[in-house]
Amino acid sequence: MLAMAQKEELTKQQELIYEMRIGLVMTKNPVSVAPEMQMSKLREILQTKRISGMPVLENGFLVGMVSLEDFIECLTSDAMNDSVAKHMSTDVITLFENDFLVTAVREFERTGFGRFPVLNRETGELVGILTKGDILRGVAKKLEVEFHRAEKKRYKNKMHILDHVQADETRFTFQYHIVGNDFNRAGEAAGNLKKNLKRLGLPPEIIRRVAIASYEAEMNLVIYTSGGYMTVRISPEMITVNVFDNGPGIPDVNQAMQEGYSTAENRIRDLGFGAGMGLPNIKKCSDEMLLRSKIGKGTNLRFSVKLYGKNDDN
Ligand SMILES: Nc1ncnc2c1ncn2[C@@H]1O[C@H](COP(=O)(O)OP(=O)(O)OP(=O)(O)O)[C@@H](O)[C@H]1O
Ligand SMILES: [Mg+2]
Repeated sequence: MLAMAQKEELTKQQELIYEMRIGLVMTKNPVSVAPEMQMSKLREILQTKRISGMPVLENGFLVGMVSLEDFIECLTSDAMNDSVAKHMSTDVITLFENDFLVTAVREFERTGFGRFPVLNRETGELVGILTKGDILRGVAKKLEVEFHRAEKKRYKNKMHILDHVQADETRFTFQYHIVGNDFNRAGEAAGNLKKNLKRLGLPPEIIRRVAIASYEAEMNLVIYTSGGYMTVRISPEMITVNVFDNGPGIPDVNQAMQEGYSTAENRIRDLGFGAGMGLPNIKKCSDEMLLRSKIGKGTNLRFSVKLYGKNDDN
């Protein structure tokens, strides 16, 4: 199954490479230099822009490419006062902005170069620069957009239980038990909740937000407490999640809410937790959030996600 999924994914990426044009993903207005500039001036540009090569332009037209290697060569041969024109390479391979990405991918493979200048086919002017990173980013972005579109379509075409519920007063309540310090079962409550929200046919974007927030809340109980409960109420207007535990409590809830604040021990950090991002993430995912705690007694976290809120465009 996995091999199959990977194969399909690759095919989709390849398809995009044949569909998307270079101009869409290239870096526009790239940093360039003039041919008469001194080689020594390159140091600052290469350093501050963190690039390894750039186009040399005369009146908007490409006359060469100068690279970090050219600069280093001048360093060792004491030619720092020479002009860029003397050291740039002039037999430059260029791409056109309205070519498909597949052309670029082939050139990267064939030459092993790290970047290509991109020209406008009609005017011959330099319009951008293309790296492999640009291609990856561009394809990933497009994949994400298409994924969301497909997800919305799937959702629209499915039957949703809630669509057929007539009474306004319908409410669902789910409750999950969370066991402290049990990493084998950690994530179960949030996972089961997610399944149930899907069964109810709630919009994917809403489910995603509730799932992330409840996962973070569940993990905090697993890590910092002896366990507790998560109660979820679904009304026609919103989903409200209440998480209770029996201690130890949080000394300063405002501090705990800060991004990056964590008391996780090394043992926990080794498991990949403890970035101090859980509570801030819950806040981001929810429309309302309230954290209350009493030392020695316990903590109650409540958050809600509106069903027909600002993010709803279904
Ligand atoms: N239910 C709880 N009981 C006691 N302390 C808690 C509880 N939830 C959170 N905390 C405290 O708040 C801190 C911040 O929590 P938060 O979830 O934001 O980050 P984290 O759990 O440390 O790291 P991450 O969630 O990124 O893995 C925790 O380090 C812990 O000290
Ligand atoms: Mg956490």
